Amino acid sequence: MKVLLIGSGGREHALAWKIAESPMLTKLYAAPGNAGIAQHAECVSIAPDNVRGLLEFALKEKIDLTVVGPEAPLVAGISDQFRERGLKVFGPSGDAALLEGSKAFSKEMMTKFGVPTAPYEVFTNVKEAKHYAIEAEMPAVIKADGLAAGKGVVICDSSEQAVATLTQMMEEKVFGDAGAKVVIEKKLEGEELSVLVLTDGKKIIPLASARDHKRAYDHDQGPNTGGMGAFSPSMKIPENEIGGIINIAIRPIIDGLAKEGIPYRGVLYAGLMMTKDGPFVLEYNCRFGDPETEVILPRLKSDLLPVMVQIAGGRLEVEALKWHEKACITVVMASGGYPGAYEKGFPIHGLESVRNQPDVVVFHAGTSFNEQKQIVASGGRVLAVTALGENLRAAHERAYQAISKIHFQGGFCRRDIGQKAIEVLK
Ligand code: AMP
Ligand code: GLY
Repeated sequence: MKVLLIGSGGREHALAWKIAESPMLTKLYAAPGNAGIAQHAECVSIAPDNVRGLLEFALKEKIDLTVVGPEAPLVAGISDQFRERGLKVFGPSGDAALLEGSKAFSKEMMTKFGVPTAPYEVFTNVKEAKHYAIEAEMPAVIKADGLAAGKGVVICDSSEQAVATLTQMMEEKVFGDAGAKVVIEKKLEGEELSVLVLTDGKKIIPLASARDHKRAYDHDQGPNTGGMGAFSPSMKIPENEIGGIINIAIRPIIDGLAKEGIPYRGVLYAGLMMTKDGPFVLEYNCRFGDPETEVILPRLKSDLLPVMVQIAGGRLEVEALKWHEKACITVVMASGGYPGAYEKGFPIHGLESVRNQPDVVVFHAGTSFNEQKQIVASGGRVLAVTALGENLRAAHERAYQAISKIHFQGGFCRRDIGQKAIEVLK
């Protein structure tokens, strides 16, 4: 089976690594991939937003399955365009991906199908939005409707901040068209939890639980990032309670969309707030989490490729996935300055010294080769250094031991990934 994987981050390296172990695979391509993905796949330089280029490539190479990593091509309708040409795709249709691509659509569907979510209003007129914000109870949360690379959500503590945020989003257009429409909603209190499932639009299979760390620095200080590390299992809820949460937060939306003629096929990621009144959905993502995928897939015993093929075909036949008992931690090494501006091109040293270490795998998130064929840092998040262990503590120690051998100029990581969960376990 020939597979094309779209994307270039740590999530896609974890997917490439997992797909590559499948006995069903004959050839793996990645577009565009990165220096780590190149260990498992032939990288072709077609950008994820070049849907036409990807389609031409898939037709020419007679690709049997295309796996779409990032949200942007999904929201742009890549799955529909591939399916129209008879190609199999793991990833929801453009209409279904609007669960992530439009916060207003997502809130509307949650309300329609009875999924608990924060009370909200939608605005396309900046005057009306500001008027509402001045009257609204603070803190409130303002969200750009469209895709904004994880930066389109602002928690506002005062009406002055809310008005300033609305000016930036709707008038100065800091997120382009994504901010032409906004959602203003109530801020919820509680613990956050991510739940990821695989679904063909009918059957729902949960993935192992995982938790990410969004802030840049230790002890949850500093700016929000795409995620500085993650661990699995998440410990936030016992694995046997996941079913109850799925029935509240995921089942109604999958069934509701199916009734509307929008079957959801792929992975659905629900970001939840566990409030004192039960779980509330903050957002849906139409793709695997990053860096959650880097801790979920190393724990997966089952072959993922046939499951993806079944979902792409609209009929999930397996009933459950098999998981390793071991815990997993990933620590992101980022470029100095991330999530702000950073320099690129610094060679990464020490990757060889951890290459064959048992239970350690370094997923590349933002790397490339320079002219001397050295692996260099070329993104904000550079590596996701991942380790398995008998428990979280063992995984944590192993991951940081590996990290101590890897260096690049300006590189930094959080030192406390998984720490709180380890202390709770003590
Ligand atoms: P989202 O992209 O909607 O998940 O928002 C990103 C982050 O903003 C979430 O992970 C939460 O930390 C926070 N957030 C979003 N909506 C709310 C809300 N209604 N109440 C509290 N925090 C929120
Ligand atoms: N780690 C958060 C996300 O993938 O959206």
